[in-house]
Amino acid sequence: MEKSYLKLLENNKAWVGEKLKQDSEYFSKLAAGQKPEYLWIGCSDSRVPANEITGTSPGEIFVHRNIANMVVHSDMNMLSVLSYAVDVLKVKHIIVCGHYGCGGVLAAMGNKQYGLIDNWLRHIKDVYHIHHKELEMIKDIKARENRLVQLNVIEQVYDLGKTTIVQNAWERGQLIHIHGWVYDIHDGLINDLNVTIKANNDLEAVYQLDDLK
Ligand code: CO
Repeated sequence: MEKSYLKLLENNKAWVGEKLKQDSEYFSKLAAGQKPEYLWIGCSDSRVPANEITGTSPGEIFVHRNIANMVVHSDMNMLSVLSYAVDVLKVKHIIVCGHYGCGGVLAAMGNKQYGLIDNWLRHIKDVYHIHHKELEMIKDIKARENRLVQLNVIEQVYDLGKTTIVQNAWERGQLIHIHGWVYDIHDGLINDLNVTIKANNDLEAVYQLDDLK
């Protein structure tokens, strides 16, 4: 059992063989460079693999994953990924994809202490706080959890729009649509929350930044 990881390396060799059988230049083409149209910000949850659930191949999606698909504006990792995707790769769509049954969201709704991760979960608690009136009107706990998953995605969509990275790209005339989706673990389907934003006047006035002059 302690050698279970060896299976992964065997699988990798088999996968390479399969790809080369279909196209002998598969890897040399991929090695030439990437031009993905999409940036995916998803949860680290092992059940939500970006490529597999969207039927996309290597080279098609630039991916950033963390617990509960958060856009924390002081997170240098997220900002670096976003900047590279927007400024260099020039992605056309940014997708924030949450999922029902998200452990991070469920933990954030409770009062149990987990350790260091509580500092990350605080950002989700803040989303709860913003929407607590709506959430507390939902008596069914499962329904309330699902709504917080949705609201969390929506807030992250807006948080992306509030970054100078996205605002400056919009200002330059770069077309970037930011979408909010939720993946349903129970049936495998992705639901579009239809909260797409594509210009800084989609944001509250206080977040609309002027050009850097
Ligand atoms: Co999750």
